[in-house]
Amino acid sequence: MAILITGGAGYIGSHTCLQLLEMGHDIVVVDNLSNSQLESIHRVKNISGKVFPFINADIRNGNEMRSIFQQHSISAVVHFAGLKSVGESNESPLQYYDNNVAGSLTLLEVMSEFNVKTIVFSSSATVYGDPATLPIKEDFPLSATNPYGRTKLMVEDILRDLHRSDNTWRIALLRYFNPIGAHVSGLIGENPNGIPNNLLPYVAQVAVGRLPKLRVFGNDYATHDGTGIRDYIHVMDLADGHVDAINYLVKHQALITVNLGTGQGYSVLDVVNAFSKASEKEIPFEILPRRHGDVAINYADPQHAKNLFGWSAKRDLEQMCADAWKWQSINPNGFSAQASTD
Ligand code: NAD
Ligand code: WQD
Repeated sequence: MAILITGGAGYIGSHTCLQLLEMGHDIVVVDNLSNSQLESIHRVKNISGKVFPFINADIRNGNEMRSIFQQHSISAVVHFAGLKSVGESNESPLQYYDNNVAGSLTLLEVMSEFNVKTIVFSSSATVYGDPATLPIKEDFPLSATNPYGRTKLMVEDILRDLHRSDNTWRIALLRYFNPIGAHVSGLIGENPNGIPNNLLPYVAQVAVGRLPKLRVFGNDYATHDGTGIRDYIHVMDLADGHVDAINYLVKHQALITVNLGTGQGYSVLDVVNAFSKASEKEIPFEILPRRHGDVAINYADPQHAKNLFGWSAKRDLEQMCADAWKWQSINPNGFSAQASTD
């Protein structure tokens, strides 16, 4: 029996594939490579020394998904496939609802047809909107401020309804905080298209000389240095959380909702300093006005994951920056071999 990983060529998916293989699971990966490259799959195979099927297909294509379930004996699905840019979702909402919501529906329909009823879903801390108090617990009110966030809420709702209608489904809604870092080998990592939207890949590209300077969005928040605070979590800790969630669902017929964060917040300037230390590079920056839609502070209460399946984040900010820098410095242009000016 194998675990189907949708979006397994992407950033979090590729790291999770490695950890699942490491723990002895068989996997099958499906990805349409819309935001990733086949090279990441080659590298996962090289690092793990294992082979597994990769299918270049779109989760919205029911027939292609059916053929995957016909050809492979699938016991569970870890569902990463989707689009993730908040800004792009404001510009192209239909594309986001189609990929993230319609895509998930097609996947769930095919799973039902094949009586595969175990799924781990990539949700996001974005479903908490602007929380009234901190740290954020799983029972806090949910809201969305952009189409991307709404797609995550909608899929969560669909999965809750599905479980209510048939409690033999085993479902984990994993709400990630801010994943950063890379595998310690430096062979796989985050590989954004074009100019990065997120802080860490932007800082990494400044350090490696691809971008001239960081733009810090606001230094007038009520935080220790005025810049926004987030709960950055090492992508390998996140990957471990998926392995633990799968193991939990094998033993328990339940729907669980779990924050995956460290519980520790760092400001933009804390991250800049940590990255500068890890890379031994100066990170020039300028202060710009606040970015529309940003909250001041966001960090998790990760206690529920610890209570449910004994998971907690192990790697600190220093390690996150060291591993991200290793990936960025070995692969200045990500998975593309040629120098690029984007
Ligand atoms: P990513 O873009 O690197 O990975 C997503 C993968 O899904 C890509 O390889 C892409 O090609 C694939 N994909 C997209 N649409 C598809 C489709 N219709 N059919 C098949 N494959 C498709 O993103 P990531 O950072 O690895 O995120 C993985 C998941 O986690 C996403 O659902 C994202 O919304 C969620 N998430 C990410 C973050 C974050 O900050 N990275 C935070 C919270 C939640
Ligand atoms: C972090 C901090 C910025 C870039 C987003 C999504 C969220 C989730 C994770 C998917 C903030 C500041 C950033 C830059 C900066 N993704 N910043 N200059 O906004 O917390 O979360 O990614 O689910 O849904 O919204 O992450 O990395 O963009 O920003 O000053 O060039 O860095 O203002 O304080 P965010 P981020």
